[in-house]
Amino acid sequence: MADSAIEPSSDLTDRTKYDALMEVVRNRLTTRAFDSTYVMPKAHYEMILEAARHAPSGANAQPWHFIAVTDQELKNKITEYFREEQVMRAKLKMKFPTPDYRGLASAPGFIVVASDFRWVKAFPVLAAATMSAHLAAAALGYNVWWVTAIGQEKAQQAMKPLLGIPAELSVLDIMCFGPPAKPPYKRWKKSLAEISNWNRFDASHFMTEAQIDEWVTTTRHKVMYRDAQNVD
Ligand SMILES: Cc1cc2nc3c(=O)[nH]c(=O)nc-3n(C[C@H](O)[C@H](O)[C@H](O)COP(=O)(O)O)c2cc1C
Repeated sequence: MADSAIEPSSDLTDRTKYDALMEVVRNRLTTRAFDSTYVMPKAHYEMILEAARHAPSGANAQPWHFIAVTDQELKNKITEYFREEQVMRAKLKMKFPTPDYRGLASAPGFIVVASDFRWVKAFPVLAAATMSAHLAAAALGYNVWWVTAIGQEKAQQAMKPLLGIPAELSVLDIMCFGPPAKPPYKRWKKSLAEISNWNRFDASHFMTEAQIDEWVTTTRHKVMYRDAQNVD
């Protein structure tokens, strides 16, 4: 007989938790400059990492390591690697509106996310855990900054010994969080209709390579920041 007597564990018509979650999801806003006078309570670091701990991972391997950086000298040194990268990109005229990475040093909350790619057979993807941590930070009332270290090989190599991270691991991201230095703003998001497809892919959602190139040239810099002039 079908096991039809299983009661749902919660009232499926109750939206209270969804609404509370969406309040956090909508208000997870990136800021790239923080109020450096704020002292991040250790308990908040722990609450944020507790959220990361519960994230899903391939084969449940949980190949992640989070290094909370509370020492300002360490934050300054890491910031310097990103500044060098920023200067290098500016020289290359990559047409990518590089943010001001000096803001990293101002972050009261600073977590370096490292992965262990030796778990390659278990799909070592850390985005879910990182996102859980970002949402927890947003739920605590902080703004966040997701900084990826991928590609910045020099920064990687420099950061690992600085933080005592074994060579076998890879620094993936830096998560900054705290009260913002100036009011944060909501960035452009695609509409629900634009991302939803029902049963079949909606052909009107398909972009050609030429359209993507056009988007990168004309639109990318406008949606990353409030506007093209206000790179933060
Ligand atoms: C995987 C990932 C990598 C990112 N890397 C960077 C980065 O290296 N530097 C940066 O300034 N912002 C980075 N961001 C932040 C995005 O630019 C930001 O999330 C996006 O513009 C949308 O803004 P919002 O977070 O306020 O919704 C990254 C975000 C994600 C999810």
